[in-house]
Amino acid sequence: MLEKIDWKQDYKIGIEEIDFQHQYFTLLINKLIDDLVEPKDDYYNCRLLEELSQYASFHFISEENRMIRCNYPFIEDHKDLHRNLISQLNDQINYFKMAKSTIEDIISFLTEWFLHHTVEKDHEFGEYFKETNKNVK
Ligand SMILES: [Fe+2]
Ligand SMILES: [Fe+2]
Repeated sequence: MLEKIDWKQDYKIGIEEIDFQHQYFTLLINKLIDDLVEPKDDYYNCRLLEELSQYASFHFISEENRMIRCNYPFIEDHKDLHRNLISQLNDQINYFKMAKSTIEDIISFLTEWFLHHTVEKDHEFGEYFKETNKNVK
């Protein structure tokens, strides 16, 4: 049974724009669970995964721009983590297209990403932002 992600207030990192994007990301993961469990067709499934991949890329650019704006000292390390996640996601999508991985593999990868990267690593940025940019909107 695939577990959906329930959005919690605790997941917020304290930057409104980023929290909004993270919440939307959980919505996309949950939509993927609904739609892939009851698959429509291969073309639709691939489009759905493409939607998620492009949203993730957009979100990473947005988050990194936030980091640039407030001189986050660990931005380069964080960008490496983003590059790594996108590359793993695209590998997962290709494996799925070639029938070398399952829906469950992709969902557990995305859930792991959300719980470890978004909740933990992005939270570190949120803490820095709160300490140093109290007046930046
Ligand atoms: Fe993020
Ligand atoms: Fe991030």
